[in-house]
Amino acid sequence: MSNLAHNRRKQKQTQGLRKTLGLVFGGVLIIGLALWLVSQSKRSSDEVSKTDLLALGEEVYLANCAACHGIDGGGHEAVEAAPALNATEHAWHHADGHLQRLIVNGGQLMPPFGESLTDDEIVALIRYFQTWWAEGQLNSQQSLSGQDPLQ
Ligand code: HEC
Repeated sequence: MSNLAHNRRKQKQTQGLRKTLGLVFGGVLIIGLALWLVSQSKRSSDEVSKTDLLALGEEVYLANCAACHGIDGGGHEAVEAAPALNATEHAWHHADGHLQRLIVNGGQLMPPFGESLTDDEIVALIRYFQTWWAEGQLNSQQSLSGQDPLQ
């Protein structure tokens, strides 16, 4: 084989290799970009649905609960026995499932809401008044809820 032919062949091989590497890198880049886009859109839709949930919770709370439990959850409004739902009393000692049953069935003085509110509205309510709790209270309530979760 002449030197010239040998060099050409080598050149061709290098070009081929470059092309393959280019394709591989391009592919990895595109897949990476696609994965990143999917994770971004999932993250933002999670954030949006959390905001929607809390907005619904606030609306339902103001319409159904604030009269007794206070606009900011301080309690003892229309019915003096209605406890605070915020961080100051002990609503946070109850697991999610217990809170849900209480709202559905009512208490001694508290009316039941199982007929007038949907399951989603009741979950939104619980998530809404939980935003009033301190981080430590929420953490301890969340571990309790492991044994008695939302139904
Ligand atoms: C007519 C007044 C009244 C209304 C309206 C009312 N509650 Fe109550 N709630 C009470 C009373 C009183 C209690 C204490 C238990 C009992 O005697 O029924 C209570 C207890 C609770 C508790 C338990 C708190 C604890 O520390 O143990 C939660 C949670 C609660 N209410 C949530 C709600 C939610 C959410 C709404 C709206 C859907 C609501 N309540 C509407 C009067 C009311």
